[in-house]
Amino acid sequence: MASTLITHIGELVTNDPRADDLLGVIEQAAIVIEGAHVAWVGRATDAPPADEMVDAGGRAVIPGFVDSHSHLVFAGDRAAEFAARMTGTPYAAGGIRTTVAATRAATDEQLSGHVARLVAEMRRQGTTTVEIKSGYGLTVHDEARSLAVARLFTEETTYLGAHVVPDGTTAEEYVELVTGPMLEAARPHARWIDVFCERGAFDADQARAILTAGAEAGLRGRLHANQLTYGEGVRLAAELGLAAVDHCTYLSDADVDALRDSGTIATLLPGVEFSTKQPYPDARRLLDAGVRVALASDCNPGSCFTSSLPLCIALAVREMGMTPAEAVHAATYRGAQALDRADVGALVPGRRADLVLLDAPSHVHLAYRPGVPLVAATWVGGHPG
Ligand code: NIG
Ligand code: FE
Repeated sequence: MASTLITHIGELVTNDPRADDLLGVIEQAAIVIEGAHVAWVGRATDAPPADEMVDAGGRAVIPGFVDSHSHLVFAGDRAAEFAARMTGTPYAAGGIRTTVAATRAATDEQLSGHVARLVAEMRRQGTTTVEIKSGYGLTVHDEARSLAVARLFTEETTYLGAHVVPDGTTAEEYVELVTGPMLEAARPHARWIDVFCERGAFDADQARAILTAGAEAGLRGRLHANQLTYGEGVRLAAELGLAAVDHCTYLSDADVDALRDSGTIATLLPGVEFSTKQPYPDARRLLDAGVRVALASDCNPGSCFTSSLPLCIALAVREMGMTPAEAVHAATYRGAQALDRADVGALVPGRRADLVLLDAPSHVHLAYRPGVPLVAATWVGGHPG
């Protein structure tokens, strides 16, 4: 098996959970990749020989970002809606219907071409694993084809038929469709099921029914909750033991306790608050309470059209009380946990060799130098990406 030694790494972030520091940093480090996996990490002076050698020039290497929440299968854009928000129009879930109309009108080739561009954009910014949701089809045919398109790019596909109730149907009728024929059509292409549990979308009882039907069909649950207002979604996610509940902007003390006690990951999406002018979630409160926090992009045409986890890290540090180390950990190790993945998110022997060489001496620069393209190179499954 071909091996590559990357050496002269000024700072290697391993995320080794056995380390004393959160990021498991090794200075003056090296890493050996064998085939698709990490074979060895340690001090450069102790590195074993390999077939090929790459000199990192004293720069930092981190695990590839794991973006556990995105909605990349869509057509059209909503730039005018964004511009209106910047002069005071509030964000509302109903805008989703604009994208539904454009998505239904697009061909499969147009949709997959668009996803390919966005995934490439993510890769250039250091994302090596991405979750992709459906949710802009909202018919049996359009949800199934959205998931089939997503599957061309990732194993982490999520059925979000319950994004919003489409025009021309009642909520009751639509929940029956989502838990019946649409679930059957989605199931072969999906690993996860998600519901937008929010004012203007689905309430907690509907979300429970949909997640339960999904679980019976073999799909694991995740949830959009407490984005626009307080509600029961976060406690429902904790009660059902979901892998992750996403947004978590408006939280009561009982919500925070439920997250801590259940171990459900709270995935924060600061690009959304940037783009909707909502208040940022309080990451510090969650971390201090012992909640596991992930960061993801939520890349979508409505509430947040960024594909950049470095931007999300910078916002989380500047606006949400996270340290740079916590934010990088949340966008890598915790992102992997939010997808129930033990093979990515860390650079320790046996994990997949998904890594990012930064044009910077340390991970702190991801927040310290916002907006600067710091990704010098990526390796995905051991291959230069
Ligand atoms: O995660 N919240 C629900 N879905 C997306 C927004 C979708 C849209 O506005 O098109 C989100 O923010
Ligand atoms: Fe979302």
